[in-house]
Formats: sequence, structure tokens, C-alpha cells
Amino acid sequence: MYPTQTALPIDPRSAELPRAREVNEVTRAAQQDAALSPRFYTTDFAALDKLDVTPVREMWDALVAEFRRDPNKDHFKRNAEFDADFSGMDPKLRQQFIEFLVSSVTAEFSGCILYAEIKKRVKNPDVRELFGVMSRDEGRHAGFINHTLKDFNVAVDLSFLTKAKKYTYFQPKFIFYATYLSEKIGYARYITIFRHLQKNPQYQFHPIFKWFENWCQDEFRHGEGFAMLMRANPEILEGRNKLWIRFFLLAVFATMYVRDHIRHEFYEALGFNVEDYDQRVIKLTSQITAQVFPVSLPVDNPAFWARLAAIAANTDALTRARERGGVVGKLQSFRLLASNAYQLVRLYTMRVTRNAYRADPRMSPVW
Ligand SMILES: [Fe+2]
Ligand SMILES: [Fe+2]
Repeated sequence: MYPTQTALPIDPRSAELPRAREVNEVTRAAQQDAALSPRFYTTDFAALDKLDVTPVREMWDALVAEFRRDPNKDHFKRNAEFDADFSGMDPKLRQQFIEFLVSSVTAEFSGCILYAEIKKRVKNPDVRELFGVMSRDEGRHAGFINHTLKDFNVAVDLSFLTKAKKYTYFQPKFIFYATYLSEKIGYARYITIFRHLQKNPQYQFHPIFKWFENWCQDEFRHGEGFAMLMRANPEILEGRNKLWIRFFLLAVFATMYVRDHIRHEFYEALGFNVEDYDQRVIKLTSQITAQVFPVSLPVDNPAFWARLAAIAANTDALTRARERGGVVGKLQSFRLLASNAYQLVRLYTMRVTRNAYRADPRMSPVW
């Protein structure tokens, strides 16, 4: 298991590194454990070792063959467009673009090290191979984003992040729900941006968005890996676990919704309305996850969106109440947090859709 507490600010091993490796501010931002930031995970490796994919062997082998073919092997190479001069970018957009890249690189890298650690710690050949190739892909993704951050002189020190970021322990089934969802929602986010910019190229303010089409197919494939693992161990998708699945769906959707609404200007710079973008991404993710999840949240019910909007508005007001401070600020914060808790409970208890069991749950990234 990863240490949950690591000495800060710098691990003694990295302290020997040259001063040029000093932790920059962006790395610190990436390291912050704010509730809405991407997290680093660790899990029960012995339990993963015991997983058996025999029940889905045929589908599994086809998926692994696709991973071995490595269709995106040559995709993550920069072209001359990246050498353009971006110094004229509006400072606010630049700031938000950097924030977007930092949270993306943290999420990609968090997958890279979790998957690499699983590969290292288990002996089960199926699990080892899947996590090895997924780690390979995430490492490429993180490196590609970090290269763009370097262009803006704000690269994240990934080696520092590995040591200094706090790790959250999750049982394997919770890792499966969370990472499966984050892979599929990652696909939905990237493809929605890509298709939109294809139709509206005037908003393409940086070449990295052109890479999203092939990129998101990696994320889709990773999601398929988790779908197979869960299907091979169906108890993960049955009984009381359905309540956990509802919880993870809500947690992932609500987190993305609130985070995107805080950064709405970034999406507006891409020519989106943030509400429209989030509804499209969440509805698509919901549709995809019906491949294995026995339940889906009521994303076609307007009340679902009204409650999420209330949470985003409360979260925004919360920032101002905290800045205000004092007794009034504290009382306001308490009221807003209580309101968010109430909205989340109401969302959690909304009637869900039951999904039909699919003998062959595989899906293709056709959106
Ligand atoms: Fe990725
Ligand atoms: Fe991924």
C-alpha cells in the first residue's frame, strides 16, 4: 500500500536532486488535495491477484489483442503547430487553460501510477498485462499534456507528485467503479470537445484539442477493460453493490458538474455553454455505462439538473461566504453546506433506470 502520509515539502530522496528540480507552484497546485481535485489511489493488491477473467475469456482476449496492437503508438507526437507563439493568448484564458491542463495531467498521471503499481504488485498474468498496457497509455497522455505545460513554462514535476501527493485507499470494487467511470467520462469529455471543435474550428485556440479524437479511444478502451473485469466478477454489479454504483455515479457526475461550472469561462472560450456541455457529457456517459452498470441515474429528468444547478450555485456562494469570514460568513457557509447535503440526498434517492442485462456488454467508441 502507498503511504497515506508523506513528509512534505520534499522527500529526502528528491532533496538530493539539483535545485532546478525545486517544486514549482503548479506542482503544488496539482498536489493540493481539494475535494474536487483528481485523486491518487491505492488498493488491495492481493485481492486483485485473485481475479479470474475466465467467464469473459473470449471478449477479454479480443480486447487485450487490441491493446497489444497499440493503435495510438504513433499518435502522441507533436507537429509544427505546437511551435506557434501562444504569448498573445488572453491572460485569463491562459490561466484557465493551464488549470485545465494541470487537472488533466494529474488525472492521467494518477491513472498511470495506479495501473503501474498494480502491474508491479500482482502475479496474475491477465491483470498484469491489462494494467501494464493501460499504464503505458496514461503515461503517454500525461507526458503529452506536460509537454504543452512546459511550453507555458509551468510543467508539473511528475516525479515529485508521485511521492508527495496523498493516496486514498479504496477496495478493488470501488477502484473499479471510480476508474471505470473516470475512463468513460474522460472519453465523453474529450470526444464532445473534439466533435464541437470540428464543427466550430474558430474556437480551436490550441492544437492539443486536435489530438483528442484518437486519444479518447484509449480512454474508451481502458473503460472496456474495467467493464470486462466487473463482468467477470458479477457480484461487483449485484445486490447491495447497486447502491454503491448509484453513489459513484452521483459523486462523479456532481463533481464534474460543479468543477466545470466553476471554470465556465474556459468552456465558453471553446464556444460551449457549460450547462449544455456537461449535460451532453453526463448523458453520454450514462448511456455508455448501461453496458455493465445495472442502474443509471435519471439524467433525462429536469429535476436532476435543477438539483445539480442548485449545488453549483451553493458552491459558488460558499467561496464568497468563506472569503467574507466572521460569524456571518460561518453561518452562511453552514447553511450552504447543509443545502448541498440535502440536494445530494434528494439526488441520490431519485428513481433510477434499471438497465437490461447484456450478454455481450462490449461497446465501440462511435460518438
Ligand atoms: Fe488517459
Ligand atoms: Fe485512461
